Amino acid sequence: MSEETPVPNPEKPKDEVPPPIPPVPPKPVTLPAVVPVTPAVPAAAAPKPVGAPVSPERRQFVFTWLKLAWIAFAMATGAALSTVLRFMFPNVLFEPKTSFRAGRPEDYEVGKVDTRWMDKYGVWIVRTAEGLYVLSTVCTHLGCRPNWLETEQKFKCPCHGSGFYKTGINFEGPAPRPLERFRVSLADDGQIFIDKSKKFQQEKGEWNDSESFLTL
Ligand code: FES
Repeated sequence: MSEETPVPNPEKPKDEVPPPIPPVPPKPVTLPAVVPVTPAVPAAAAPKPVGAPVSPERRQFVFTWLKLAWIAFAMATGAALSTVLRFMFPNVLFEPKTSFRAGRPEDYEVGKVDTRWMDKYGVWIVRTAEGLYVLSTVCTHLGCRPNWLETEQKFKCPCHGSGFYKTGINFEGPAPRPLERFRVSLADDGQIFIDKSKKFQQEKGEWNDSESFLTL
């Protein structure tokens, strides 16, 4: 038996040594995604750590309520104080004096209606050639104060138009009766003394009373 010697084929490349297989890098281990766990208690309700800074909004909120509380407290204290003061100093009604001295007769011009005591005492003094009398400034309709109209020589009530002569007698409008007169006399010092606590009504015949007129 003959052994054939293999003839090298020049076209056939020599058996190449396969390149070394690069090492396969280890696959990164993918861990399952961590699902965030929602806390059972909402964050807002969770207790704040001690010493945590207070937000400006919260500080403003607390400040507003404190202010309101102080205002309410001050108002309540004031009300209580005023009640105590009212108890200690009860209302006193200061009535104008019912009697007063009105100067000397010569201070009044004959034939004139004098209005100098109208605001303070609510009277007109009418000087006549014989003496003087004192009229009330209260309208006998509903209590308004008439005006003395010198040019028209009458008292005219601005409320409903009643008119009164210089004597006080009513002649127009709804006034049902004349103006009232007050007691008048001459005091020891020679001054006219007017006493409003005593009234005289013409319709009752009281103008004939000697105290309703001062003869001079
Ligand atoms: S109150 Fe004077 S007319 Fe009515």
